[in-house]
Amino acid sequence: MKYMIIRRLTILLGGFMLLSMTVVKLNQETVWEVPEDYQNLENPYAEVEDEDRIGRITYSKYCKTCHGSKGKGDGSAAKLLETPVADFSADVFKDQTDGSIYYKVYTGRNEMPGFEKIIREEEDLWLLVNYIKDL
Ligand code: HEC
Repeated sequence: MKYMIIRRLTILLGGFMLLSMTVVKLNQETVWEVPEDYQNLENPYAEVEDEDRIGRITYSKYCKTCHGSKGKGDGSAAKLLETPVADFSADVFKDQTDGSIYYKVYTGRNEMPGFEKIIREEEDLWLLVNYIKDL
């Protein structure tokens, strides 16, 4: 009798440990940590009118194939990826600072390419941040 209780407890404990390991792993995959410096980075172009539609043009050129024309994560290439493509209309996306978005586009993660070497002008990258926030 005593042994049965111990065995059950062990199984229970093992299951619990497995579960918590999975939760930690999922969190690591979903939460994209942004360094504080970037989180607090001010968008110098927040109020700038994008007269030449640089944000839109850059988005069509480099982002649309994965993120889709409305930023829902349903571009034609999205289904070829293993990483779920972010949805820009989700609250988790909207609730972050411009600096955090800037950082993510700049550095990339998993199948999301970093654009540090592709979008060279800081201004263009900020105008792109403005654009995807309003998609
Ligand atoms: C090859 C496909 C692909 C291309 C091209 C691409 N992305 Fe992504 N993007 C992804 C994937 C996949 C993720 C999710 C990455 C993750 O969670 O690890 C992502 C995530 C993001 C995020 C983070 C979203 C969040 O919830 O915080 C931003 C911002 C972003 N992309 C912007 C862009 C912009 C802007 C461009 C164009 C300059 C672009 N992406 C081009 C696939 C792509």
